Amino acid sequence: MRVLVIGGTHFIGPYVIRYLVSTGHTVKVFHRGQTKADLPSSVTYLQGNRQDLYQYQSQIQTFAPDVVLDMIPYTIVDAHTLLNTITGICPRIVAISSQDVYRARDIIWGLETGMVDATPLTESSPLRSQLYPYQNAPQRPLGIPSNYDKILVERTYLNTADMAVTLLRLPMVYGPGDPLHRFYAYLHRMDSKRPVIVLDARLAQWQSSYGYVENIAWGIALAVIQNPESESTASHRIYNLSELHPLNEKERLNLLAQAANWPGQILATTPDQLPADRFIPFNFHQDWTTDSSLIRQELGYQEPVSITTALARTLDWERQNPPADVQQSASAMVLLDPDIEDRIVAALSQ
Ligand SMILES: NC(=O)c1ccc[n+]([C@@H]2O[C@H](COP(=O)([O-])OP(=O)(O)OC[C@H]3O[C@@H](n4cnc5c(N)ncnc54)[C@H](OP(=O)(O)O)[C@@H]3O)[C@@H](O)[C@H]2O)c1
Repeated sequence: MRVLVIGGTHFIGPYVIRYLVSTGHTVKVFHRGQTKADLPSSVTYLQGNRQDLYQYQSQIQTFAPDVVLDMIPYTIVDAHTLLNTITGICPRIVAISSQDVYRARDIIWGLETGMVDATPLTESSPLRSQLYPYQNAPQRPLGIPSNYDKILVERTYLNTADMAVTLLRLPMVYGPGDPLHRFYAYLHRMDSKRPVIVLDARLAQWQSSYGYVENIAWGIALAVIQNPESESTASHRIYNLSELHPLNEKERLNLLAQAANWPGQILATTPDQLPADRFIPFNFHQDWTTDSSLIRQELGYQEPVSITTALARTLDWERQNPPADVQQSASAMVLLDPDIEDRIVAALSQ
């Protein structure tokens, strides 16, 4: 198969491309040339900005892709630009979406009221009613634009009648190369030989879906290379892609502790023990887990890497590539200052 990848040279993309090449497929990557990845020598490149994609139509036509894998559709314009460029040239798109399309996300953030949604979320669970989830965020993750919305991306792709579309809703992804260094702040505490990590009890019990980057990349590669004759390839499909057994934060932290050889204790404490300014204003009654059984049934997806190996590889990488500041790690926002932890532990032991 000939696969044009839009993006693909940063975090998840390189793993996907290595799977595609190792299973015998021909890959061309379209990106601006600002990031570089160690990709197989057979990979070819088209350099440009996706907002100008249409200007590259004749080169794309010459490449004649069987599938375009859109790794980085963030806005409705991104989706329209790709459709305008490849309609009539390519029969199929696989596009990367996110579990942030679900209404559950906004229940957690306090932007939707009412009953929590049943979890794990399936592909037909309710979607957010408000658009642009990061519009007013003080910091937008991974430099995404203020008009980011995967709901609009999905809708635009699903509205096309000219080609088959597969959408993959990703969970929080971790592993070597993770620009968010999701678990680094936890690891930093463990490697600093802190005896205890104190967690808000609501967070300790909160379940969310993660995926290890090599496993997520394999799911994406499978969606790209699935049998062109199959019913799922010929029609529009949405798949959640996430780990089989979601964990709560305390369970995940316990696995991290084992992988890090940390002998300390994770202590869950009620929010009233926490300083008011460290109260996390999320509705933790809403879990954020997704059900990935559909991609398992239809595409035969299974994780190639166990969670033990995944965490070991992640921690190795994090130790060798720490962020410049521990506060850059996504887990830093839920950790208490060490002196506050010490006070809580002292109060509890009296
Ligand atoms: N990480 C997570 O936890 C998570 C969770 C849910 C969903 N996702 C989704 O996963 C996808 C991101 O994966 P990734 O970061 O691993 O992507 P990636 O494809 O590995 O890296 C981003 C790529 O996009 C290229 N790029 C960025 N802006 C561009 C532009 N304007 N024109 C052309 N190329 C451009 C970059 O190369 P240049 O810089 O050289 O242009 C790079 O190749 C996104 O769709 C994201 O929403 C991620």
